[in-house]
Amino acid sequence: MNRIHAWMLTTAVSMAAGGIGTHALAQDAKSVAPKARPAAGKAVPVADVGDGDLKKLIALSFHSKGPATLDGVLQQDPMQQACSQYPDRTSVPEPVAKKIEAAEIRQVKYPADGKYLGDWKVGEQIAQNGRGMQFSDPVGGTNGANCYACHQLTKAEISFGNIGPSLYQYGKLRGNSEAVIKYTWGKIWDSNAFSACSNMPRFGHKGILTEQQIRDVMALLLDPASPVNQ
Ligand code: HEC
Repeated sequence: MNRIHAWMLTTAVSMAAGGIGTHALAQDAKSVAPKARPAAGKAVPVADVGDGDLKKLIALSFHSKGPATLDGVLQQDPMQQACSQYPDRTSVPEPVAKKIEAAEIRQVKYPADGKYLGDWKVGEQIAQNGRGMQFSDPVGGTNGANCYACHQLTKAEISFGNIGPSLYQYGKLRGNSEAVIKYTWGKIWDSNAFSACSNMPRFGHKGILTEQQIRDVMALLLDPASPVNQ
């Protein structure tokens, strides 16, 4: 998002700066802004605005609160920096994707005790729970995973998103070989290890879920008694 309407930036900056207009970004924006906002119906001039300008703008208007911090918004790790160069993950060049996946798979931590499966009933609660890491959540509180926001998992739950593929009958269809178990753990730990620039959160790597919570979600997907596999 390097090209934005200069007058929109000017407006947003003056709002964020409380109309004072003396902030460095406001001055930068003025230097690229047209003299006056164009009349309705006229083409809107655009100007190149760099990532640095946008970062300054976000820093002006976003206030850290609870677990939702400004650093969390602005600090990008190498994978996020690489993925930010592409508008959607289907446009990531193959060599870039391969490099990201290779780096991310090295970050996956498999359970030291070799126990991959927990309690699917707890896993179902975690999959249903969309709380955590928002400004209104406690710092260090227990997070949910909100898997249903993107995936179908069971037949009983009829409200689910479809950004991700249906995971209904995941274990029944794939079995529970060591390869399947390790892939599934790795996918939940760090989704980008298997598909660069994935929309799916990196639950383990980013500390969203604990190791035990991942075991419980694993059981939801793979336990033959889980409603996912009925
Ligand atoms: C914000 C959306 C989102 C959330 C939340 C999400 N996922 Fe995903 N997931 C995706 C997308 C998109 C894909 C497909 C692209 C990819 O592989 O990354 C995917 C792929 C997967 C796959 C691989 C499927 C396959 O065919 O190999 C698994 C397993 C999975 N998700 C499990 C989960 C679990 C378990 C949760 C909750 C702990 C979860 N996801 C939460 C978006 C999401």
